[in-house]
Amino acid sequence: MPSSIDPALQQAIAARLRFYRDLGLTEFYRRPVDPSDLQTLDASETGPEEDAPRSAADAPTFQIQPQAQTQETTPIPPRKLVPTAPPVAPTAPQIDRVEALRLIREDIGDCTRCALHRGRNKIVFADGDPNARLMFVGEGPGADEDAQGLPFVGRAGQLLNNMISAMGLKREEVYIANVVKCRPPGNRTPEPEEANTCSPFLFRQIDVVRPEVIVALGATAATYLLGQRQPLAGLRGRMHSVRGTRLIVTYHPAYLLRDPRQKKEAWADLQIAMRELGLKVPARS
Ligand code: URA
Repeated sequence: MPSSIDPALQQAIAARLRFYRDLGLTEFYRRPVDPSDLQTLDASETGPEEDAPRSAADAPTFQIQPQAQTQETTPIPPRKLVPTAPPVAPTAPQIDRVEALRLIREDIGDCTRCALHRGRNKIVFADGDPNARLMFVGEGPGADEDAQGLPFVGRAGQLLNNMISAMGLKREEVYIANVVKCRPPGNRTPEPEEANTCSPFLFRQIDVVRPEVIVALGATAATYLLGQRQPLAGLRGRMHSVRGTRLIVTYHPAYLLRDPRQKKEAWADLQIAMRELGLKVPARS
């Protein structure tokens, strides 16, 4: 590495290599690089990566920092009633998806259906492509999302961006939503009543987008998508089905921020989704 390299870029490359090491990819090879490309590289460690590179030099960042919003390790409380999801709606013609989603947002309106509305600033409806093949479902907005009205824009969102990038996709190509659309105070887990009040809108979004694969991020998303409360460990690593769509369950990015060792497991889950979508999974060294 030339000594004149920009320290920020150097740091970014180091972070990328750490990411691959954490995934178990330890052997790298050099390939000739056009020096002009280096000028355009984003030196940010955590920003979204727009390409789908698969060599170490341009591998996506998956920067891990301590702290988390979601308690993945909290013992699973006794089963509470999770209502059965409404029947799957007929497929929305592609051209109508934007309008169909707009109507769902309109139905939500300035919602006061549950107690979460009292503390919210903005309703966080969704982000991404209404025609996406892949959908991510999280738990509920945090402080950044509540301020901006968009899902996964805080630190957990940066990590999700990097996970998406590692799959060879762009954030704009997937669809992202949450179980609840208003921020639970102090980022606590949504109460069943709150989640059950809000999740019908999520199901409607799923019915409109009709992704080929849904990735449930964390136990709350898995619980309300699957309609049953189970430890995450028992749900990961295999295919489920929700509303006629294949579903895989993985760790919430906020949990991965707190326990980076689980990144490798999360990557294995994402690879299941990639195979389902026919995306190229990088070869393991
Ligand atoms: N955590 C979530 O579950 N959803 C968000 O949108 C942000 C953080």
